Amino acid sequence: MTTTKKPLRSQGWFGKQDRDGFMHRSWLKNQGYPDDLFDGRPVIGICNTWSELTPCNGHFRELAEFVKRGVYEAGGFPLEFPVMSLGETQLRPTAMLFRNLASMDVEESIRGNPIDGVVLLMGCDKTTPALMMGAASCDLPTIGLSGGPMLNGKFRGQDVGSGTGVWMMSEMVRGGQMTMEEFVASESCMQRSKGSCMTMGTASTMASMVEALGMSLPGNAAIPAVDAQRNRLAQLTGRRIVEMVREDLIMSKILTRQAFENAIRINAAIGGSTNAVIHLLALAGRIGVPLTLEDWDALGHEMPCLVNLQPSGKYLMEDFYYAGGLPAVIREVTPRLNADTRTVNGRTLVANCAEAPCYNRDVIHPLQEPFKPDAGIAVLKGNLAPDGAVIKPSAATPALMRHTGRAVVFEDIDDYHARIDDPELDVDEHCVLVLKNCGPQGYPGMAEVGNMQLPPKVLQKGITDMVRLSDARMSGTAYGTVVLHTSPEAAVGGPLALVRNGDLIELDVPARKLHLHVDEAELARRRQQWVAPAKPERGWYRLYVNHVQQAHLGADLDFLVGGSGAPVPRESH
Ligand code: FES
Ligand code: MG
Repeated sequence: MTTTKKPLRSQGWFGKQDRDGFMHRSWLKNQGYPDDLFDGRPVIGICNTWSELTPCNGHFRELAEFVKRGVYEAGGFPLEFPVMSLGETQLRPTAMLFRNLASMDVEESIRGNPIDGVVLLMGCDKTTPALMMGAASCDLPTIGLSGGPMLNGKFRGQDVGSGTGVWMMSEMVRGGQMTMEEFVASESCMQRSKGSCMTMGTASTMASMVEALGMSLPGNAAIPAVDAQRNRLAQLTGRRIVEMVREDLIMSKILTRQAFENAIRINAAIGGSTNAVIHLLALAGRIGVPLTLEDWDALGHEMPCLVNLQPSGKYLMEDFYYAGGLPAVIREVTPRLNADTRTVNGRTLVANCAEAPCYNRDVIHPLQEPFKPDAGIAVLKGNLAPDGAVIKPSAATPALMRHTGRAVVFEDIDDYHARIDDPELDVDEHCVLVLKNCGPQGYPGMAEVGNMQLPPKVLQKGITDMVRLSDARMSGTAYGTVVLHTSPEAAVGGPLALVRNGDLIELDVPARKLHLHVDEAELARRRQQWVAPAKPERGWYRLYVNHVQQAHLGADLDFLVGGSGAPVPRESH
């Protein structure tokens, strides 16, 4: 490895023999750091999303201690700092509203401080893209470390998956197949250890994307949060970031177009979350890699799903880890990958996984006998979604992939909640449930409400899936024939805003088509009558709504696209 002679940016603070240097060093020394830590060794920022309100990241202070061990061992100086944490299960109206805000926190915290390299501690869904995006806009040597999934949920002798089990059991309660008492009893059994959702939801998907992009050491995605291997990985991550600073291995050397192409293919192979579409588009925008929604279909097309995990399949992350984890998947799909993408350990992704063993072929299928064929995210176009909409075929019902049905329209989420359980609602299983005003501006923050619960009268027939359509997202742990991310969204006057009860909607996934069977003249008439919803008047909500881009662009704020590097800012005094 080549070692850089570039002066470290932290020396712009600590290397000064004057009043300002005194201030930078002296105040830090109140924590007991010896003089020699300021001698020009790499200063490693440990960007921590620990919060008791983000339970999935609740163990991150311990994890950071293992990172620090590694940083000290390699001759670096670790300094841990907090950033806004985003807890998927607590934050309202949706954690996604704050992804870009947290990314700004990350970006400015890195750039404004004496930091030469960064370790990103990421776990719960939105913490991963927020940290990756913020760090990408600085482009320092950066390494990702995920917190790891929880142990498998266990309820009455059965495995129950985070999220997926909630969606399933709550429908059983509404359909009369489970009592509320049983449902509540499962609460303490589903989430039974530290860590993030142990399904292949957004957290596990994004941890896999971090590994697939080459941004973490191999094995990062699947090691359970409570396995001692996770702490070992943290320590090795700490050692490695110090070397990365010496090698000047900055983020943009890892996050190439080829790396994104690999990540998109690997997302299909793991049956990953639709949320990865939005997050990777936004991340690519930050690092300056051209990537479009259409790339998702073009690259993921004909990629099979190899991984039999909920919500697409039956197993959970603990099983995935024991079966070999992401390296075993990468080894399988190597013929479909760009061979020369570099990872944070200096080797290529393909080389890292060339010998990766698989211990359970029911969990990780071979490429020749996939779990599901053609599993890539499908991008739909048509008069209802001129800029695109997405569906995850691996989590949908094959029989509904070509379906025309009568629209049952909900104007917004409140309208939906008010009427979905109404026995008088004119709906049957052939209808298409349409939900408006849940996109980036409409909700605001594009909540995970696209996997609408079905009407009880449909559930009572034993039917568990219907075509659903919205400008919302859905939880990565959810499933069903759910068309999401319709762009442009209803709140900006996209065609979705014009759909009315009784209109015929045609979904044709093989043809990538989403069509509203209403003629152009009638649509023009409806467009005339459309009234834009009111916008928030102050604070973050206002800034967000005024600047958020549409889903097909990644829903980043327009002024955050790109990066500013990490030049040393002027002095503070
Ligand atoms: Fe935090 Fe699922 S709720 S990872
Ligand atoms: Mg979620």
